[in-house]
Amino acid sequence: VPYLVGIDVGGTTVKVALVTMDGDVADFSAVRTESMQTPGELASAAGKVRAMAEGFAGDDAYIAAVGLALPGVVTPEDELLLAPNVQVNLEGLVDALAEAFGVPVYPMNDANAAALGELWRGSGQGARNLVFVTLGTGVGGGIVVDGKVVVGRGGTGEIGHLPVVPGGRLCGCGNRGCLEMYTSARGLVHLYRDACARHGQVPVELEHDAHSLPVFEAARHGDDVAVEALDEYARYLGRALAMVACTLDPDAFVVGGGMSAAFDLFGPLVEDAYRDTVIRTCRDIPIRPASLGNLAGMVGAAYHGAQRSGLL
Ligand code: BGC
Ligand code: NA
Ligand code: ZN
Repeated sequence: VPYLVGIDVGGTTVKVALVTMDGDVADFSAVRTESMQTPGELASAAGKVRAMAEGFAGDDAYIAAVGLALPGVVTPEDELLLAPNVQVNLEGLVDALAEAFGVPVYPMNDANAAALGELWRGSGQGARNLVFVTLGTGVGGGIVVDGKVVVGRGGTGEIGHLPVVPGGRLCGCGNRGCLEMYTSARGLVHLYRDACARHGQVPVELEHDAHSLPVFEAARHGDDVAVEALDEYARYLGRALAMVACTLDPDAFVVGGGMSAAFDLFGPLVEDAYRDTVIRTCRDIPIRPASLGNLAGMVGAAYHGAQRSGLL
């Protein structure tokens, strides 16, 4: 029985799923992305990923195709042009994985992969025009036009780098004031720390700067300063979506990525900010959470691998 493998490389983990040809996730797991720089480290990581995928598969199973979602700009020729948030040697990883699996490994942008996953098996099924937004270590976008993910030269949908604050915070891409600096996990933590400083409040315990959960929790418990930070967060995101709406006029916005676990909390705030700023004809566009959650990228990557291998 042929299976697909979908791999999603994030800021802190590499997630691996064994996926059926119909897009069901048979099983999945994650390995931490500590150091993947040297050929030895890369080979060992790739070996772990392969062992994990094979461990999920039964005796009658074989891996027919592998797709890889990367947190950066990937051209249609599989070239990685930019990956602002990862220390991993991504090109090396693609090669190490191809070596480990013994089949070609097809890379793509992670937000495009999530969009593709949602189109195949999630809330995007049958959709024509959608904008997927992923909120996590970075902020990504997947643009679906006429039922297809648009890749362009590789950078279509790089909404995390919309320049929203002139002369603002320095981004991993080298520019200043990118949306990602305000609406990624780290961005929210930063807004929260600033709000604490303004109000002379001691911030809640934060494990590290990319850990936004405690801020969401504080806001849930009615901490005024956390709520203020979340409001600011939502205004940045809502206004950015208003800009995207003016460009694409999609049927819906779909929000995924790690931070979307708190969509119930910030979603309504983003909606308000969006409706207050967007052109009147776009006011009714819904903003909803993604349905595949963290699996979307792996499922989409698996689909991409299958398609590029001529299986789907
Ligand atoms: C990258 C995108 C990626 C996003 C989410 C951004 O910083 O530029 O390519 O999709 O992070 O990982
Ligand atoms: Na994208
Ligand atoms: Zn940037």
